[in-house]
Amino acid sequence: MHEAAGILGWIEGSALSHAMRGWLWLYPIVEIVHITGFVILVGAVTMFDLRLLGFASQLPVQALGRHLLRWSAGGLLLVVPAGLMMFATHPQEFAASGVFRLKLALICVAGINAALFHIGVNRSVVNWDSGVAVPAAAKAHAALSIALWLAVISCGRLLAYT
Ligand code: HEM
Repeated sequence: MHEAAGILGWIEGSALSHAMRGWLWLYPIVEIVHITGFVILVGAVTMFDLRLLGFASQLPVQALGRHLLRWSAGGLLLVVPAGLMMFATHPQEFAASGVFRLKLALICVAGINAALFHIGVNRSVVNWDSGVAVPAAAKAHAALSIALWLAVISCGRLLAYT
């Protein structure tokens, strides 16, 4: 516990943290990058999940997945650095925030859900690529994914009020 406080104290004293608190436009610009990133990330993931839930069943799942996965990865490359920079602005407050901890936990669960999909039911995707019903397990992963990302976004927005 003492070590964590030390690290958070070090982050709070860093030049980055001072700049994020001191420069008027830096924080809003970083937050815009954060928002742009998760719009791309969650947008791409949700479009794939909706395909798994049976929308646009004529679209081949593999081709759509390859296209959207690239964008969701790109979105993550914007979301995480910007999120860490905003975190560095008030690390002690955010670290103590139950909403912030819940947000990070939900992001981890969303990641595990996606990984289990890829190493599990997605291995048989050639059998249900297009024009046939998607397996119930894939639909379950998709429904859980949409619910989790909605919860992450809700936690992110509620951070400003808690
Ligand atoms: C990966 C998926 C993520 C999503 C979907 C997400 C979503 C959000 C949303 C919706 C907001 C509110 C934005 C606003 O209303 O202006 C937000 C704010 C924030 N996010 Fe994230 N976020 C993600 C990842 C992260 C990560 C990895 C971190 C840091 C470790 C982080 C740190 C923050 C912080 C500190 C704020 C607060 C900004 C404020 O209230 O001033 N986020 N996020």
